[in-house]
Amino acid sequence: MLLKAPAENIPIQEIPLQKNIKLFIKREDLIHPQISGNKYWKLFYNINTYLENNPENPYIITFGGAFSNHIAAVSAAGNLSGVQTLGIIRGEELQDKWRDNPTLLFAKRNGMNLKFVTREEYRYKEKLTEFLQNEFPHALIIPEGGTNEQAVAGIKMMLNNQTKDFDYLCTAVGTGGTVAGIAKFCEENQKVIGFKVVDDTSLENKIAELTSRQNFNLIDSCFGGYGKIKDENIRFINDFKEKYGIPLEPVYTGKMMQKVFELIDEDFFPENSRILCFHTGGLQGIEGANQLLEKQNRNLII
Ligand SMILES: Cc1ncc(COP(=O)(O)O)c(C=O)c1O
Repeated sequence: MLLKAPAENIPIQEIPLQKNIKLFIKREDLIHPQISGNKYWKLFYNINTYLENNPENPYIITFGGAFSNHIAAVSAAGNLSGVQTLGIIRGEELQDKWRDNPTLLFAKRNGMNLKFVTREEYRYKEKLTEFLQNEFPHALIIPEGGTNEQAVAGIKMMLNNQTKDFDYLCTAVGTGGTVAGIAKFCEENQKVIGFKVVDDTSLENKIAELTSRQNFNLIDSCFGGYGKIKDENIRFINDFKEKYGIPLEPVYTGKMMQKVFELIDEDFFPENSRILCFHTGGLQGIEGANQLLEKQNRNLII
C-alpha cells in the first residue's frame, strides 16, 4: 500500500504577540498519528516511487540514533505499507537495552528489524550503505534523517496557498532536506530561515546541493549541542504548551520556537512581518527525553 497525501488544509495557528508582528505555526505534526510532520513528506516519494517500481518483496533499510524520529517514522511507514524494514542503529550498547527505549520499542512493534552497530561503524555509513546495497540489491536504502532529492520534492507538499501569504518561513534543520525543500519551492518574495539544531559546518554545502536558490539563512539554535537539553529549553517548552496549547519536543521544534522568540525580542524581524513556523512533529521523542531527565532528577517535559 502506498502512502496517501493527507488533507490539504493543515491547521495554521496564530501565536499572539505583544508586538506589531504576526507569528503562526503550521501543525504538520497533526498530519498522521505515527509518521509525523516533515517525516511524512520526506518519505512520501521515496517509498511510493520504490513500491511502484518494486512491488515484489520490497525491503527498506535506513539509519538512525536511539531516539530517532526518522527510525520511528520509517518503521511506521513500513508497517502501514506492508514492507519489511531494517533499522541500522547507532550504539552497540543498545543491543540488550532496546526494550527500555520507547523509540526502539515502537520500531520493533512496527515489525522493524534492528541492527546495532558501533559509533565507529556508524560514522562510515557510506561504506555500510554500499555493503548493504550489494547484500540486498532490491532494497531501498534511505539515508539518515531521510534527506535526499525525493525527500526535498516531498517537502513541496508542506507549501500551498495558505503558506504563500507569509514573509518568513521557519523550520528546524537537522540534515537539511526540509529547509532545502522549503527554499526550493516557496514564493520568490519569501525568506526562509533554518534553525540549526546540529553543529555541522557542512550543512550549507549540503543544502546547496539540494537547492540552487539562495533565499535561506541558517541560524545557530543548538543550545549546547544536538540533543542536549538545557533547563531553559524545558521551561520554554512547558510555558509554550501552557500558554498556547501546542506541544513541542526538545530536539528540534522546541529549540526553533525558542530561538524565534529570541529573534522577535531582538527586533530581528521588521515591523508588520508575517512569520510562519513549521511544526515538524517528532513528539514521539518526548518520552525518551523524559526518561533521561528523570534519571538526572530534572524537571520533565509536560
Ligand atoms: C521533528 C523534526 N524536525 C525537523 C527535522 C529536521 O529535518 P531535516 O533533517 O530535513 O533538516 C527533523 C529531522 O531531522 C525532525 O525529526
